[in-house]
Amino acid sequence: MLIALLPGDGIGPEVIAQARRVLDALAIDGLVYEEGLVGGAAYKAVGHPLPAETLDIARRADAILFGAVGDPDCDALERHLRPEQAILGLRKELTLFANLRPAKMFPELADASTLRPEVAAAIDLMIVRELTGDVYFGEKGMRKTADGQREGYDVMCYSESEVRRIAHVAFRTAQARAKNGGGGKLCSVDKANVLETSQLWRDVVIETAAEYPDVTLTHMYVDNAAMQLVRNPGQFDVIVTGNLFGDILSDQASMCVGSIGMLASASLDSNGKGLYEPIHGSAPDIAGQNKANPLATILSAAMMLRYSLNLPAQADRIEAAVAKALAGGARGADLGGSMSTVQIGDAVLAAL
Ligand code: NAD
Ligand code: IPM
Ligand code: MN
Repeated sequence: MLIALLPGDGIGPEVIAQARRVLDALAIDGLVYEEGLVGGAAYKAVGHPLPAETLDIARRADAILFGAVGDPDCDALERHLRPEQAILGLRKELTLFANLRPAKMFPELADASTLRPEVAAAIDLMIVRELTGDVYFGEKGMRKTADGQREGYDVMCYSESEVRRIAHVAFRTAQARAKNGGGGKLCSVDKANVLETSQLWRDVVIETAAEYPDVTLTHMYVDNAAMQLVRNPGQFDVIVTGNLFGDILSDQASMCVGSIGMLASASLDSNGKGLYEPIHGSAPDIAGQNKANPLATILSAAMMLRYSLNLPAQADRIEAAVAKALAGGARGADLGGSMSTVQIGDAVLAAL
């Protein structure tokens, strides 16, 4: 089994190094790694954020473990050369349309959430974010208006088939998570009161629901969803939403469970091939200081074992080790502690 290892920029290499230590400690038979350049690191080395060689490794791999991309040195580059194009390009080229971002409260972190502990304790939700459409991938550009001003535009757009395939993933996710016999709850988040894109989204989600009579489907406008996520996050089970809304709501959900350094993600195609990455970015403000929380990346490695490599028992071991490390006080500055990236990795290894 080939793992493409793409550390990227900023804290990316620091957090990937800890995930790699954890994977190595599991001594899984037949796991091999190929490392590739992505992001600003790739641009600086070879002039492109997603070199053909990296894309080739990613295509050949059974799964991809990704750190983060983004480099302030590259902010002035033309858009197609910016580091972020590496992750957008991988998602699009590999059709990784289904982004699963679980947010679950580790009881040990109740005091780290910015929500009251009794509100935060109930959080156990999954954001299913569509990842290869929406305003991210519509026509975009800069132009001049009739009166000579600059005007930027990005077209928001979803086709029926794009909505349907992510809706199926979301309904199946709700069924798989359901406890006590039911089919689980699915909340579709949109802005159908204003956007045509969202009206289509809502119509197609409702059509798809006919195939999942056991799942309880509700709809919510995104502004209300942002509010409900901090008012009473325990009401949510599975949330399905578009690319942009999902990006924003998942950063918000991360803080509800204590830190953006805790949220893992899987980005899957229709065959279970996946890219696994923390939801956070390259964090230039703390890069190179051994301060980043590596747990989101370690938990992403667990998702990789579960979803792409069919090793659920090993995934369970990683998740249990993370819980044990947290119970033992393994916390970085983001969680109100003082441990370094490497020390948190040490704690997870010790727990394993
Ligand atoms: P960010 O997620 O990198 O950082 C936001 C804040 O959270 C910062 O204060 C940072 O220090 C903190 N933080 C993030 N991860 C942390 C961790 N593991 N441990 C402790 N603290 C952590 O978001 P940003 O600052 O808006 O973006 C920085 C760069 O990252 C930009 O170039 C952006 O485009 C890029 N980015 C990339 C990805 C990705 O690669 N998938 C995701 C988000 C942002
Ligand atoms: C994420 C990031 C990316 C996104 C950026 C870096 C393109 O914020 O993975 O959440 O917006 O999807
Ligand atoms: Mn994001």
